[in-house]
Amino acid sequence: MSQRTPLIAGNWKLNKTIAEAEEFIQALLPRVFAADGVDIGICPPFTSLQAMVDSARGSAVRVYAQNMHQAESGAYTGEVSAAMLSELEVQGVVLGHSERREYFGETDKALALKVPAALEAGLEPILCVGETEEERERGDTERKLRHQIQEDLAKVPEDQLAQVVIAYEPIWAIGTGLTATPEQAQEACAFVRALVAQRSEEAAAQVRVLYGGSMKPDNAAELIALPDVDGGLVGGASLDPESFAAIVEAAK
Ligand code: G3P
Repeated sequence: MSQRTPLIAGNWKLNKTIAEAEEFIQALLPRVFAADGVDIGICPPFTSLQAMVDSARGSAVRVYAQNMHQAESGAYTGEVSAAMLSELEVQGVVLGHSERREYFGETDKALALKVPAALEAGLEPILCVGETEEERERGDTERKLRHQIQEDLAKVPEDQLAQVVIAYEPIWAIGTGLTATPEQAQEACAFVRALVAQRSEEAAAQVRVLYGGSMKPDNAAELIALPDVDGGLVGGASLDPESFAAIVEAAK
């Protein structure tokens, strides 16, 4: 860990109704009451955003959306804009998750517009990058990360780069119970930071790089303690308030 404030964000994916989200937040808040020095985020589905913003107001918990469209408005049925999220007082937005890239045709071209659009609206983007198992096996991890970071951040000005959170999520570790080893996580997160340094050394020192992929209460402390890992983007283990609070605790 570093002087950067760690961020533990729970990506709920397609889980929890409003009632279930309320139950979660009421159970989480007393558990993270004294979580000084750690930023805490939850990323509920769109339908629960307003309720979570209202319930988390005044607490240490920030609320993030899981996606948005790059346009300000227009004929894009089913989409929401950065300004619409901002109006809800949502803190940020997850962009480029591998599930969106794989199942919903999310492209680097769109992400190159989404990341600056989020920043413009005052949202903190959590940009997800990561390699498949096949890419890792054939030695293409760095090539993939370089491509994603260069493309997705291309239109972000140097002086705003540090406001982006980057989540390194090896696809082979997502929801599989397989976690990257500390060596693999450190190597990849350091590489991500070095890519940011090619644009701005100052931003690289400040940018938060998270690890995501089967982070659990029993492996979180070791991963978050790595020099270039500034927290975690947690899927499955973020659905239970006790597990999620234990991961927050591990980041203190
Ligand atoms: O965005 C979080 C993520 O994809 C990791 O999911 O379930 O492996 O923690 P999980």
